[in-house]
Amino acid sequence: MRNDIERVLIDEAVIGKRLDAMAQDIERDFPRGTLVVIILLKGALVFAADLLRRVPRVLEIETLNVASYHGGTESTGKVDFPDRHFPEVKGRHVLLLDDILDTGRTLHAVTQRLIDEGAVAVHTAVLLAKDKIRAEEVAADYVGFQIDDEFVVGYGLDYQGLYRNLPYVGVLKPSVVH
Ligand code: IMP
Ligand code: MG
Repeated sequence: MRNDIERVLIDEAVIGKRLDAMAQDIERDFPRGTLVVIILLKGALVFAADLLRRVPRVLEIETLNVASYHGGTESTGKVDFPDRHFPEVKGRHVLLLDDILDTGRTLHAVTQRLIDEGAVAVHTAVLLAKDKIRAEEVAADYVGFQIDDEFVVGYGLDYQGLYRNLPYVGVLKPSVVH
């Protein structure tokens, strides 16, 4: 796996330190009471597992499948909700977790849906945010790292379903991208 990586962008220790700070910010900002956290699958899985164990309060954890990328390295523009069940959020404060803010279409569509479902407030946290002009005007409330507009893998992010278990964020060698 490591042979397929051209360059490490953010190493494991740096991510861990940043998550300590993000968890403190989240703990400080949210009103008392049980918070509902929604993890967008599959990309936010690793980020969420490491972040949420650092947040010292009672949380309710839900997951949601969203399909916006269909295999390649470019966004297709359409956001689908393939799950039959949608988390119960009526009257709740929601923290939405995703791996990366790219075009903004995913966070925009999911936030809108959560508000339609009756959430009182929706805040968003992403491990990464690409430095680019977004298709949808949306900003995450908590951003781990701002990165250049290039395709990255690892720490939950995939290329064609692979590399999610890489413990750091890196860039693939051009020879493995097709
Ligand atoms: P957006 O809707 O364009 O903001 O894209 C968000 C989704 O696209 C993320 O949840 C990722 O699954 C995927 N994505 C965007 N950029 C990358 C990347 O560089 N590597 C892997 N997945 C990415
Ligand atoms: Mg993905």
